[in-house]
Amino acid sequence: MAILKIARMGNPVLLRKCDPVPDPGAPEIRRLVADMMQTMEDAPGVGLAGPQVYVPLRLFVFRVPAERASADLNNRGVPNTVLINPEIEAIGEETGLNWEGCLSIPEMRAVVPRALRIRYRGVDCDGNPVEGEATLFHARVIQHENDHLDGILYPMRVTDFRYFGFNAELDRVAEEQRQQQAAQAAAEQ
Ligand code: NI
Repeated sequence: MAILKIARMGNPVLLRKCDPVPDPGAPEIRRLVADMMQTMEDAPGVGLAGPQVYVPLRLFVFRVPAERASADLNNRGVPNTVLINPEIEAIGEETGLNWEGCLSIPEMRAVVPRALRIRYRGVDCDGNPVEGEATLFHARVIQHENDHLDGILYPMRVTDFRYFGFNAELDRVAEEQRQQQAAQAAAEQ
C-alpha cells in the first residue's frame, strides 16, 4: 500500500468529468482503492475521489466517523467504503447547510447546501452492487465525493461567501465568541 499525492485546487484533473471504471474487479482498481483508503486515513479525511489522486475515474472512498454519526438510521458510523461507478439521487427537496472541507483545498472550509437525504448505488471491488440511503453527514460526504467525479469542487456550491474561510481564522473567531458568551453568561448570574 502507498500514500498517494493529493491534487490541489488549480490542477485541471479536478475539473474534468471522470470516466466510468471499465472493470471494477481489476487488480489495479483494488490496489488503487486500498491506497486511497490509506491516503484518506493518513490525511486525515472522510472522503477521497479518484481525480484527487490524479486518476480521473468514477470511484471514491469515504467513511462516517463515529463523531459525525447520529441516531438516524441512515447516518450511523460507516467504516471505509468504496463506491465505484456511483449514481446518486436526492430523496425529496429538503436541503441543509453545513460546513465542508476538502483535501484538495487544504486548511479552508465553507458552508455548503446539500440534499438532506439521498439514494445511492454503485459497485464494490468485487463488482457486487452496493446501494442504500444516506442522510445528514453520510449524505453530505457522498454528495461531495460524487461532485468530484463531475469536476465540481465545493466552492462552486457555496451560496454565501461570508461563510468561507481559513480554518485557523474561523476557529479563532468561534473561540472568541464562545469566550465572550461565557463571560456574558457569568456576568448575568
Ligand atoms: Ni473534496
